[in-house]
Amino acid sequence: MKVAIKGMGFYVPEEVVTNFDLEKILDTSDAWIVERTGIRERRRAKDTELTSDLAVNASKMAIKNAGIDPTDIDFIICATASPDYLFPSTGCIVGTKLGLGGVPAVDIAAGCTGFIYALSIAHGLLATGNLKNVLVVGAEELFKIVDPEDRSTYVLFGDGAGAAILGLSEDDSGILGWELRADGGYGELLMLPARGVALPLNQETIEKKLHYVKMKGNEIFKLAVRCMGDVSLSLLKKLGMNSSQLDWIVPHQANIRIIQALAKRLDVPMERVIVNVDKYGNTSAASIPIAICEAIEEGKIKKGDVVLLVAFGAGLTWGAMVLRI
Ligand code: COA
Repeated sequence: MKVAIKGMGFYVPEEVVTNFDLEKILDTSDAWIVERTGIRERRRAKDTELTSDLAVNASKMAIKNAGIDPTDIDFIICATASPDYLFPSTGCIVGTKLGLGGVPAVDIAAGCTGFIYALSIAHGLLATGNLKNVLVVGAEELFKIVDPEDRSTYVLFGDGAGAAILGLSEDDSGILGWELRADGGYGELLMLPARGVALPLNQETIEKKLHYVKMKGNEIFKLAVRCMGDVSLSLLKKLGMNSSQLDWIVPHQANIRIIQALAKRLDVPMERVIVNVDKYGNTSAASIPIAICEAIEEGKIKKGDVVLLVAFGAGLTWGAMVLRI
């Protein structure tokens, strides 16, 4: 029996930060950001609003759309690169905030590929037949981990959360296949150097701003284009499919130029690619679930559509999944 998405939800904080807002605090311009990234605005969470709070809001919507009771959830997987704490996991905090003390919960740290990793793990768990409903949530507050004085990263990221309830399929909807990859050898291209045990927070690491995201944007750009294309084509081949059989591609929303290059490589017109990077920027593990859920709400993605999800991120990690909605 297949494993399917039974309902989805998303949540973005109220505050909109436009490129024009960023022009006032950084040596940048709306024209540069739009041309190089496609981003026009992004959302920022309040200081008092935590990653787990965004996750809970998205999860409540997914639970409602799946038509289940919160107590029907028997596993929680939270994908995040900006957890509330190193531990306890944000998954555990989300469970408690949903009133689900006792339900197993875990975080997945797979950068922007986190949601696809989490879906794949949920797929495996449900296929054992021991569980009925798994909550998968991708949630990020990247504003709190990027350097407000670094124009090369600060303009790219945003805050938000997206969630899905997965369970056994009752029709022909479901996950058709997935392929995941990782290569820690490239880890230094996109990393948060301090805060862990390798470089604990101290005056020196703070002065050197090592507690903020560091990225070699150019190299990440080239690898993202190549790896997302490779893994998508490899998965389609494994499934005996070609890209003309896809109704939609939902790529990780990092940069419009990466998305356009991917669409060209897969020979899929941009009309069949979901794009919302202009509104939310790069929300890492939250970007794919926000994009799917919003596209369903807008009536673009419909029941029965075959969708390719594909992402690339810190780790480095990358992966793709094909599913029928
Ligand atoms: N505003 C204005 N100028 C900026 C800028 C900004 N916000 N950020 C960087 N620049 C400048 C650079 O300083 C550089 O100036 P220089 O030539 O005088 O040194 C110039 O723009 C070109 O920088 P470069 O990094 O080569 O630009 P780019 O075309 O590669 O675009 C990114 C930069 C970050 C937008 C692009 O590399 C990218 O999107 N990479 C992938 C990032 C990503 O998706 N990361 C997450 C992966 S999940």
